[in-house]
Amino acid sequence: MFYKILDEMFSDIKEYKDIKKGKGIRGKLITIINPSAQKLAAIVEAIHLASLLHDDVIDNANIRRGAISINAKYGEHIAVMLGDIIYSKAFFELTKFPSEIASLISNAVYLLSKGELEDVKLSKSINLDKQKYMKMIYKKTASLIEAACGASAISRDFPAENFKTYGKNIGLAFQIVDDLLDIIQDEKTLGKPSMHDFYEGKVTLPYIYLFQRTKENEKNELKKLYKKKLGKNDKEFILKLMQKYNVIEDTFNEAKELIKQAKEAIKDFEIKELEEIADKIVKRTF
Ligand code: IPE
Ligand code: MG
Ligand code: MG
Ligand code: MG
Repeated sequence: MFYKILDEMFSDIKEYKDIKKGKGIRGKLITIINPSAQKLAAIVEAIHLASLLHDDVIDNANIRRGAISINAKYGEHIAVMLGDIIYSKAFFELTKFPSEIASLISNAVYLLSKGELEDVKLSKSINLDKQKYMKMIYKKTASLIEAACGASAISRDFPAENFKTYGKNIGLAFQIVDDLLDIIQDEKTLGKPSMHDFYEGKVTLPYIYLFQRTKENEKNELKKLYKKKLGKNDKEFILKLMQKYNVIEDTFNEAKELIKQAKEAIKDFEIKELEEIADKIVKRTF
């Protein structure tokens, strides 16, 4: 339902039709919490689409959701402007909502953009500060999911805080798993480039753990691969090291712990679908 509203919002934009739909997690969360919040779901999905258009420009990514990305197909100028158009239309629609909802969502977009900026800045050199990483992923990914759940709860007179805590924690787990899948998953399943983060300078949580745990000579080998185009042997070397130091399992466990906290926050409401979505985040393969 919300996908139909979303498509109608941008029916006048030719290139919009080439944007592949994703899992629609944000829209699903909103409509599970309040089935009549379809318009809000469409708006948040639009915001998410726009953020990915810009993200693929920032990350030099040529595939998205298994298809050629908009920046690769039409060039970066079109991708940036298309993102702006989608953001603007989403905000225009958001002004028709109660101010509590509109400010919650729009503030999340402000945080998301600051998070993307921090991500870019952190990727200039090897960042081993986990706190900085956590703060950055909170902003770039968790904040919009947190706001989406909170806003939908408000629209239904549910206590916003519980749902915000749920959204924040699944958002953090979502990005940690995203960063893990970048390393362990193949490109075909992923629908986007694999082992691309390290090449782009992004030292995500598994890499932070790896740098903390490796011996000096291994660390030096890793540093040599930073921001380099990785060959098959390089990828295998990184994966082997990650296995040797239990990095993949520990990162997964961290995401699982966040999922536990998310479910804890909303347990009194007994909304089975929200618990299922939370579980799926750590079980997903792409
Ligand atoms: C998340 O970061 C992007 C946004 C929140 C806009 P990533 O750069 O890791 O996302 P993917 O891997 O390209 O989907
Ligand atoms: Mg990206
Ligand atoms: Mg990015
Ligand atoms: Mg990623």
